[in-house]
Amino acid sequence: PRVVVLISGNGSNLQALIDAQEHDRLGGEIVAVVSNVADAYGLQRARDANIDAVVLPHGEYDNRDAYDGALIKVIERHEPDLIVLAGFMRILSQRFVQRYLGRMLNIHPSLLPAYQGLGTHALALADGVSEHGCSVHFVTEELDSGPVVLQAVVKVAEDDTVDSLKEKVHAREHLIYPIAVRWFLEGRLQFSGDSATMDGVAL
Ligand code: GRF
Repeated sequence: PRVVVLISGNGSNLQALIDAQEHDRLGGEIVAVVSNVADAYGLQRARDANIDAVVLPHGEYDNRDAYDGALIKVIERHEPDLIVLAGFMRILSQRFVQRYLGRMLNIHPSLLPAYQGLGTHALALADGVSEHGCSVHFVTEELDSGPVVLQAVVKVAEDDTVDSLKEKVHAREHLIYPIAVRWFLEGRLQFSGDSATMDGVAL
């Protein structure tokens, strides 16, 4: 099976997926990495792994629909079975989400449904929660609201800062994202509207 990864930045999650692939632990092949940001470091990670790295700058399009249309064209050239959002910092249009519904995953740095949107680590610290973490979920039209597939929990320490917490969560992201992708590529993970199922069992 074929995977296209969308990024906007550093691409440490992309790297975790590349590493899994190189150890035959991804269950498929990353055939292209697409970034809306020209100098995203993740593009270099893709090139270093001999993966097609495509830049599609959003500034060159009049509106979201035009951009997403162009993005679909680029993606379709690679005939993916799965789209993986790995720090892709753009809202996707309804048309785009519908097209890839049930075959697009995202990773979010919180224990969803808590802290959708940006600034999750600061919000968790401000609330004084004892547990924080990350979630892999299917992408649906409402931002960060699709069915959750897999989560990892981190304990929040008294002396945690936004940076230390972010670092701990990131380390967990790198562990769980390749697992979730593999489940999907092996056909074990399914999207059924309101929920996700794993080997036929609702998650
Ligand atoms: C991660 O925190 C992920 O949860 C969020 O974007 C960030 C991407 O980081 N969706 P990286 O580019 O993979 O290092």
